Amino acid sequence: MSIVQVDGVGKAFRGLRALSDVDFHVAEGEILGIIGPNGAGKTTLFNVVAGAIRPDTGRVSFAGRDVTGAAPEKIARAGMVRTFQLMRPFGSMTVLENVSLAAQHHRLGARKLREHALDVVDRVGLGPWAYRVSTELPTAGLKRLELARALASRPKVLLLDEVLAGLVPAEREPVLDLLASLREQEGVTLLFIEHIMAAVMRLADRVLVLDQGRVLAVGSPEEVTSDPRVIDAYLGEEPTHADA
Ligand SMILES: Nc1ncnc2c1ncn2[C@@H]1O[C@H](COP(=O)(O)OP(=O)(O)O)[C@@H](O)[C@H]1O
Ligand SMILES: [Mg+2]
Repeated sequence: MSIVQVDGVGKAFRGLRALSDVDFHVAEGEILGIIGPNGAGKTTLFNVVAGAIRPDTGRVSFAGRDVTGAAPEKIARAGMVRTFQLMRPFGSMTVLENVSLAAQHHRLGARKLREHALDVVDRVGLGPWAYRVSTELPTAGLKRLELARALASRPKVLLLDEVLAGLVPAEREPVLDLLASLREQEGVTLLFIEHIMAAVMRLADRVLVLDQGRVLAVGSPEEVTSDPRVIDAYLGEEPTHADA
């Protein structure tokens, strides 16, 4: 059964067609990688799916319900949560406070909330930073915090927008392990936008390629990376995309 279904989604910004007739589905527990050149519409697609932008045409359904144009908070409470490409934690709060805030809608009670938040902070490797103000975090730490905030709400579907960008290879490995374990241990469905092809190849069951707002290809990582249209539109474009 599909947990996420996108049908005929289109979105234009003052005449610029950011998305045109986008169709795809994601099965429960599946990991879908989303790739495509800069400006292809990847982040806009997440904005539409997570409710930040209402599409001009088409529908988004989550767990069998039409959520097109629903408020992001409502979609998040229902279990579909996204991370932002540009992290925006509450700078004056500690890492633990930021993560606790993201889990608040579970109404756990102070002690349980704190335990849960600490557990998530540990899980993303921010244990030593739990009581530091979040503005003190380096880039890799902010990325982990962004992931921790998403995890704290115990999502069924997690939308990840370039969570590996800005991380050096040694910092990527634990994040990839964590993402794989979310699916293995908790059955979390993942949609992840990523430029680092090695990560896409390792993690994704299927890959969706966006180009100029359209779905250029969908298939296994092997199918997609050997598709001449994909190589033309994206993979051949810049050597840095192969794996920086
Ligand atoms: N809020 C917005 N207002 C106007 N144009 C936008 C907005 N968001 C995205 N765009 C434009 O839509 C296109 C797709 O952007 P985006 O979804 O961010 O691409 P990607 O994430 O694949 O790099 C780009 O041309 C971008 O400039
Ligand atoms: Mg983007």
